[in-house]
Amino acid sequence: MGFSPFTLVQFLFLLIPSLVHPSRPTNGIITDQSALLEFKKGIVADPQSSLSNWNKANHVCEWKGVTCSTESGRVTELDLKGYQKFIRAVLLRTDSGVLNTSAIDLSTSYPRITYRELVEATGEFNQSRLIGSGSFGHVYRGVLSDGSVVAVKVLRIQSGNSTRSFNRECQILRRIRHRNLMRIITICSLPDFKALVLPYMSNGSLESYLHPEEWHSGLQLGFMERVNICSDVAEGMAYLHHHSPVQVIHCDLKPSNILLNDDMTALVSDFGIARLVMTTDERTMTAETAGNSMANLLSGSIGYIAPEYGYGRSASTKGDVYSFGILVLEIVTRKRPTDDIFNEGLSLHRWVKNHYHDQLSKVVDSSLMNNIRGLNPEIKNMWEVAIIELLDLGLLCTQDAPSNRPTMRDAADDLDKLKHYLGVDTTATFTSAHGVSSSTITAGDSW
Ligand SMILES: *[C@@H]1O[C@H](CO)[C@@H](O)[C@H](O)[C@H]1NC(C)=O
Ligand SMILES: *[C@@H]1O[C@H](CO)[C@@H](O)[C@H](O)[C@H]1NC(C)=O
Ligand SMILES: *[C@@H]1O[C@H](CO)[C@@H](O)[C@H](O)[C@H]1NC(C)=O
Ligand SMILES: *[C@@H]1O[C@H](CO)[C@@H](O)[C@H](O)[C@H]1NC(C)=O
Repeated sequence: MGFSPFTLVQFLFLLIPSLVHPSRPTNGIITDQSALLEFKKGIVADPQSSLSNWNKANHVCEWKGVTCSTESGRVTELDLKGYQKFIRAVLLRTDSGVLNTSAIDLSTSYPRITYRELVEATGEFNQSRLIGSGSFGHVYRGVLSDGSVVAVKVLRIQSGNSTRSFNRECQILRRIRHRNLMRIITICSLPDFKALVLPYMSNGSLESYLHPEEWHSGLQLGFMERVNICSDVAEGMAYLHHHSPVQVIHCDLKPSNILLNDDMTALVSDFGIARLVMTTDERTMTAETAGNSMANLLSGSIGYIAPEYGYGRSASTKGDVYSFGILVLEIVTRKRPTDDIFNEGLSLHRWVKNHYHDQLSKVVDSSLMNNIRGLNPEIKNMWEVAIIELLDLGLLCTQDAPSNRPTMRDAADDLDKLKHYLGVDTTATFTSAHGVSSSTITAGDSW
């Protein structure tokens, strides 16, 4: 079948029992409208603009995909053809006749894409389309038959583990909607072939900006871009830790897992080895995803793994905070935690800590220092304060003792204040942004 997943029939027929309430016909249509607007808020991506005229300027019965009953004048059916997720649901009204949009489960399943379609989209997985590789497999740039550009992540299948990893990633991503977290467009799952179709991120990964190949070295991140990236990552991580329906520990935060879209918004990706922490109402997250099979697997990448993981501690949010701290230090210094200069007990953390108070230029990325040199003294001073603040945050997050590290939510709040300080109110002093960084680096913390 040559259908693209986007043109496949993705109907949502919501069979609404014709509850005609002659006694209250008047404001019914307004409540239908608000219910559907509320529903729309939960949708982060609408590539086919299926919901473009869903607003108060248009009568709800004229909205795309909405059918109203001629008798009651109320919404009776939704047909979200073109919306990228395949939705299977029965919509109900509550006892009082209000549309119950929480009954529309956007995450029921993905449209399937066929192997043949992926072969065509990627030019038979042509090497020239390869945009990334890892232990999980390869990522190709693909163009679907409707012209949309996507990233196709083909999982290497050689053991039961990659299937588990694949299922885990799908289960997690399906539940998660946040502007700073990667989402799935669709999946292809065959016994011996598994692939995820993800949005294509035109600006690649943070890795390629921090450590460009020589022929690419024109790429430079400005200071505000770096602050925004730190903030985006913190927001995405805070969501995973504190707000998502299932708490997720990422376990492998590092620059190559931070992707940048057209406007340089950063998205945290690659939940392949993430761990789910079950909440009591998440009975579907069974042992396969959260349980013993992964318990003894060392998580993460060298340089970014929290030291306590080396002593067999199980994955924790504070482990992610550590990796995030390394990431922040790396963004400011443009030094990898695995750089050759770090040996014999010297670490990125310690190196920054030793120098940043009196020799800022020694540790901060030289291109950043060059940018700052040309600025007027007031702005220059402000940026220096902000750089120190970022380094402070990085140091706090990379303390050895997990309990001394802030939470991702604290870090996100702190970065939010920092952005505010830099962007909104240029006369502000920095006192407001000391939420996290009011230095609680303890003397007893061993390096
Ligand atoms: C709406 O539907 C959901 C899912 O079917 C159900 O759990 C919930 O109780 C309903 N809400 C109301 C107010 O009826
Ligand atoms: C791969 O892509 C290159 C460049 O587009 C093309 O020249 C080559 O023929 C392709 N290889 C295959 C096996 O299709
Ligand atoms: C899965 O991974 C673990 C740890 O890497 C390994 O010991 C195990 O043999 C793998 N399982 C399979 C089925 O390959
Ligand atoms: C990011 O991608 C967009 C679109 O491809 C491009 O116009 C822009 O220059 C890129 N930004 C950077 C900083 O490379």
